[in-house]
Amino acid sequence: MTTLRPVSANVVWHQATVTRERREAQNGHRGAILWFTGLSGSGKSTLAHAVEETLHRRGCRIFVLDGDNVRHGLCGDLGFSAKDRRENIRRVGEMAKIFMEAGVIVLTAFISPYRADRERVRGIVEHGDFIEIYCDTPIEICESRDVKGLYKKARAGQLAEFTGITSPYETPENCELTVHTGTEELDVHVQQVIDKMIQHGIIAAANFSKE
Ligand code: ADX
Repeated sequence: MTTLRPVSANVVWHQATVTRERREAQNGHRGAILWFTGLSGSGKSTLAHAVEETLHRRGCRIFVLDGDNVRHGLCGDLGFSAKDRRENIRRVGEMAKIFMEAGVIVLTAFISPYRADRERVRGIVEHGDFIEIYCDTPIEICESRDVKGLYKKARAGQLAEFTGITSPYETPENCELTVHTGTEELDVHVQQVIDKMIQHGIIAAANFSKE
């Protein structure tokens, strides 16, 4: 696990007495980061929110960090250059880590197109805390959905650096789960994610296996 050193040498880490372990024991599940990655319109947010809905109903402490929402606040100063996307993912990764240490299951829905940026987040937490989920929807399907009209704008040359058209998307090579979100079976995909969480010991099979 790697952590950034503060610029100032005069900041000292404060150790809390309410530890992650105590919070997790109280919650009845582990904290973790489920990192959804994929093209715009690939179904990351839809799937993440559906998982959130299911597990919230079953008493989990769970929260979705969504790219479009975070860019209205914490990352509102960032655009879509490689440098800005890298900073976006760095901030989100650090925030997700804080949530996780608070015992929360954090689901992040960011395009996060660069492999190195995703790997950097993986590297700031312990092995097993970062579960990468690739929402593998072909660009033709994302473009045909075009819920926000952004593909149309990008094709018309009105939107620069658009992922999949004028900016790259680097497919995950060693992700924990690939979900074929181009198909319509949301319930099946939710169950795949829940099964993966059980397999990684984030939630217990006894409480969360299929009803
Ligand atoms: S990321 O690349 O830095 O991870 P992020 O997930 O935060 O991106 O934001 C992506 C969302 O911003 C898209 O779903 C889309 O709605 C919007 N967006 C606006 N401009 C762009 C662009 N040039 N490329 C990709 N997404 C864009």
